[in-house]
Amino acid sequence: MNNSIVETENLCKKYGNKLVVKDVNMHVRRGKIYGIIGKNGAGKTSIIKMILGLIHKTSGQVRIFGKDTDECRQALVGRIGYMIEPNGFYSNLSARENLMIYTRIQGSINPNVVMDALQAVNLPSDDRKKFRNFSLGMKQRLALALAIMNDPEIIILDEPTNGLDPIGISDMRRYIKKLQQERNKTILLSSHQLSEVEVLADDIGIIDDGRILAECEIEKIKKESKQSIKVEVDNIKKSAVVLEAKGIKNFVIQGEHQIAVYEKNISSYDINRMLMDRDIKVSTIFTEFFNLERYFNNAIGGKVNP
Ligand SMILES: Nc1ncnc2c1ncn2[C@@H]1O[C@H](COP(=O)(O)OP(=O)(O)OP(=O)(O)O)[C@@H](O)[C@H]1O
Ligand SMILES: [Mg+2]
Repeated sequence: MNNSIVETENLCKKYGNKLVVKDVNMHVRRGKIYGIIGKNGAGKTSIIKMILGLIHKTSGQVRIFGKDTDECRQALVGRIGYMIEPNGFYSNLSARENLMIYTRIQGSINPNVVMDALQAVNLPSDDRKKFRNFSLGMKQRLALALAIMNDPEIIILDEPTNGLDPIGISDMRRYIKKLQQERNKTILLSSHQLSEVEVLADDIGIIDDGRILAECEIEKIKKESKQSIKVEVDNIKKSAVVLEAKGIKNFVIQGEHQIAVYEKNISSYDINRMLMDRDIKVSTIFTEFFNLERYFNNAIGGKVNP
């Protein structure tokens, strides 16, 4: 993928003798949301921590803004915000007070930075509630606020919706999407759920057992993958003959009674009529739309579906 703002090349990580990240090549495009997806223990957090320089890489390269991070790590401070776990906050302080402490650590004294970050995640800046009384959703939102404080260009989020309830998940997704759409941020996030990444990400990298199995633009595969009309009939042979006689060649017999038709300019209504006119009984007919999970299960032999 061109225009990568974060890139890894043959990135590897060993803990002791155990190789857990294996030659990972990832490409995060500027202004896009990139989702790393993989099961528990696949290596997502290790990859993210190596990109951030929080743990040493065993071998390989990380390039951010086109430069090898081994040579420019210091220059990246402030240009990348991240959220790994919602801890590192004082339990007896409010959201605002916690962020104020960080601004002081970072040498900034501008309170607007804190207000702006809290506003972006919908945490009221005048709320006196202490961190120890926060719900997990509030803790995650505060962690996101910390990640975006000081307006970094790249935001890296490790499992930002993990453990949240459905409303918390949908809130978090909304904030993340807004950061991309309204503030032009580049976002790298991880998840163990394909469906989660599908609704958020532009690009996706699938990690399994430390390896990247596939990397792609979601829109591109959506365009390339065909939707089909599935028909269940009583007489499969006769149906095939009828379809061919009508000039429909793009179909696959999928079972004793099922045919999938991959023809762009034909409706399920037309197919139904063609078959019924020839006395074929159609018990079911429906259009099967694109589904990322199914696509990847087909593409990589059922390895995804954590
Ligand atoms: N500090 C460590 N020492 C030894 N092994 C580790 C360490 N951290 C992670 N591992 C191992 O490395 C592998 C990858 O772990 P990692 O945390 O990167 O995966 P993950 O995809 O983030 O998993 P999860 O979905 O559970 O967060 C796992 O087998 C894990 O047990
Ligand atoms: Mg992890």
